[in-house]
Amino acid sequence: MSQQASKQRAAEAALELLPERGIIGLGSGSTAALFIDGVGRLVQAGRQLVGVPTSEASRQQALRLGIPLLDDAGPWDLDVCVDGADEVSAALDLIKGGGGCHAREKIVNEHARLNVIVVDDTKLSRRLGEQWPVPVEVLPFGAQATLERLRRLGPTELRRRDGAPWRTDSGNLIFDVKTGPIDDPAQLDARLLAIPGVVETGLFVGRAQLVLVAGAAGVRRLERA
Ligand code: A5P
Repeated sequence: MSQQASKQRAAEAALELLPERGIIGLGSGSTAALFIDGVGRLVQAGRQLVGVPTSEASRQQALRLGIPLLDDAGPWDLDVCVDGADEVSAALDLIKGGGGCHAREKIVNEHARLNVIVVDDTKLSRRLGEQWPVPVEVLPFGAQATLERLRRLGPTELRRRDGAPWRTDSGNLIFDVKTGPIDDPAQLDARLLAIPGVVETGLFVGRAQLVLVAGAAGVRRLERA
């Protein structure tokens, strides 16, 4: 089964968890986009679902599909948020931010009663950091000074697109910190957040209640104990 087909399966499994009516966090990335397509189909069929998008891309997609959206400022009381991830550990902690949307994703995640992560099985690792660097969103002011601090935690690169610094939806920069396998993600998250200039990290510790992992054998449900 292709990775794309697995993503589709995971997204469809998440659609089955949605209530008849409710407020849904709309994640970002290619797997979440497949989920949003499905939400669009449900809304067109009359299901009373309202979304909170975690990125401008997700917002545009939702608007195209006719999914009603709540105001950006909140507060929101989300029934469920469905999002993708770049890496999922055995403890169900996550690295997110491959698309640079992790700051908004973490805000929306915080306000959902149920957080569901949809991934294909290539995303599973024993420990976070085995496959991915940790994306860190940083204010442009003092970025080189912040970079110096981040480099104490591992080789760190400014993310670029077409040669120019990548900008997040909030106009900030992304530094990818290559930590290698992470023993204590919560401690690393706290150390990163303690650096002035850091807006948010892509470490999601204890933030996924349910991970739907799709592969050739079907969809597995991994639940936080
Ligand atoms: C966006 O910043 C991310 O957190 C995505 O959710 C993550 O990169 C997973 O994306 P894919 O589903 O495209 O792999």
